[in-house]
Amino acid sequence: MENQIKSVIITGANRGIGLALTKTFAKAGYHVMATARKPLQAVALIELADSDAHNISIFKLDVASKLSVDNFSKTIADIPVDILINNAGILDTYDSSIDNIDLVSFGEVLITNTISPIRVMRAAMNSLRLSNIKKVVNISSNMGSFSRITDGAHAYRTSKAALNKAMQIFRFELEKEGFTIMNLHPGWVKTDMGGNAADIDVETSAQGLFKVIEVTTAAQTNQIISYDGSVMDF
Ligand SMILES: NC(=O)c1ccc[n+]([C@@H]2O[C@H](COP(=O)([O-])OP(=O)(O)OC[C@H]3O[C@@H](n4cnc5c(N)ncnc54)[C@H](OP(=O)(O)O)[C@@H]3O)[C@@H](O)[C@H]2O)c1
Repeated sequence: MENQIKSVIITGANRGIGLALTKTFAKAGYHVMATARKPLQAVALIELADSDAHNISIFKLDVASKLSVDNFSKTIADIPVDILINNAGILDTYDSSIDNIDLVSFGEVLITNTISPIRVMRAAMNSLRLSNIKKVVNISSNMGSFSRITDGAHAYRTSKAALNKAMQIFRFELEKEGFTIMNLHPGWVKTDMGGNAADIDVETSAQGLFKVIEVTTAAQTNQIISYDGSVMDF
C-alpha cells in the first residue's frame, strides 16, 4: 500500500550514529523501533521520542544477549517491519599486536559485531517477511576491507570483514525472497567510537546513509557502499 507508514528497527539507537539515524528516519515519517540495551538510561533517545511520540518507540535490546534478542523477537512477533538496521557495535582497541592481543576481548568483539547482527536478523525475519520492502542494513566499516592493509584493531577489522562475508552469503540465499541486504560504511564519524578528530558529524553520516538505504536495490548490494554513495572494495 502506497501511503502506509514505513517502519525500521535500529539497534544501538541511544547514542552516536544510531541516535542520528533514529532522528533522520523519524523526521522522514518512518515509525522507528529504536532499541537500546539500557533504555531507562537512554536520556537523549527518550527526549527525542518524547518530542516525536508518533514516530519513535523504544525497545530494550542487548544484541549480544540471546535472552534479550529472544524477548525482543517475541515483542515484535507478527508486526511487519520494512527495514532492519544492525548498527550496534564495539571497538575494543586500536593497540593490538601479536604480543599483546587480548583474545577474550577479540571474541567479545566478534560476538557483538559479527554474530549479533545475524541473531537480530533471524529474530526479525518473521516481521521482515511480512513487508514488501525487506531491507537488512549492516553498518559495517571500511576498516574491514581486504584492500586496506594497516596495523592494529585486529578484532574490530576482522569482525567487520566477517560481517560483510556472512551478509554476502545471506544476500545470495534470500535474494529470491525479495530481500535487499546491504553493508554500508558510515564514514569516519565524530562519535564516542570515531573520536573528535573524525571527518564528519553524525547528522551528515545519518542523512547520507538514509539516502543510500532508500535508493539501493538488491542488484547493487555485492559491495560496500559509503554514506556518500561511493562504492568501496570488500
Ligand atoms: N564512528 C565511526 O567513525 C564509525 C566508522 C565505521 C563504522 N562505524 C560503525 O557504526 C556503528 C555505530 O558506531 P558509533 O560510532 O555510533 O559508536 P558509539 O558511539 O560507540 O555507539 C555504539 C552504539 O552501539 C551500542 N551497543 C554496543 N554494544 C551493544 C549491545 N551489546 N547491545 C546493544 N547495543 C550495543 C551502544 O550502546 P551502549 O550505549 O549501551 O554502549 C551504542 O548505542 C558501529 O557498528 C560501528 O562499528 C562507526
